[in-house]
Amino acid sequence: MKVVIIAGSNRKDATSTRLAEHVEDLIRQRGHKVLLFSLYRSPLPFYSPVNSFQDHEGLSELKLAMLEADAVVLASPEYHGSISGVLKNALDHLGQDHFSGKPVLSISSSGGTVGISSLQQLQSIVRNLHGINSPEWLSIGGAQRKWFEMEQGNYEGGQDIDDRIHRVLGAFLQLAQQVRGG
Ligand SMILES: Cc1cc2nc3c(=O)[nH]c(=O)nc-3n(C[C@H](O)[C@H](O)[C@H](O)COP(=O)(O)O)c2cc1C
Repeated sequence: MKVVIIAGSNRKDATSTRLAEHVEDLIRQRGHKVLLFSLYRSPLPFYSPVNSFQDHEGLSELKLAMLEADAVVLASPEYHGSISGVLKNALDHLGQDHFSGKPVLSISSSGGTVGISSLQQLQSIVRNLHGINSPEWLSIGGAQRKWFEMEQGNYEGGQDIDDRIHRVLGAFLQLAQQVRGG
């Protein structure tokens, strides 16, 4: 299967992007093709309904990858009880062509213990785009973010976080396999 991950932070060492990169490694290890599109490394223009931005290389790359994707991961920091502006902007450039009938896993990083508000907002957007929300979501928050800020293995609660990531990812890939794998 082909999986696209959109890393929705505009910060160089973002923990949501580190979490997305960890998920990327695990998906690849399970034999799938995966592309991580970082909105920090490849900024997109502000969406406008009167401009198709056909000449924008990064946007064309993202749109093509999304058309070809079997499943999608959306990663966001929790900002003001919602998702980041850059991720919302990227999603405004995309549509049902890119999401319809595809399983989508939402993941977040927050200052509080869990970033539920951004995850709920993402699931609502996915529903509007006719994607299929994965039954579980993934959030790292508060002190858990340390695992993604330091050398992994040095943070005491790391094993619990990694166990959860494996479980949530397993359910997501199983759903994707059932829906798209045949
Ligand atoms: C503009 C802004 C708004 C934020 N709003 C919230 C919030 O509503 N709830 C929360 O738990 N954390 C909030 N935070 C903290 C971030 O969610 C937290 O630092 C997160 O780990 C950032 O993710 P990143 O490492 O991917 O940049 C906010 C941070 C910023 C910069």
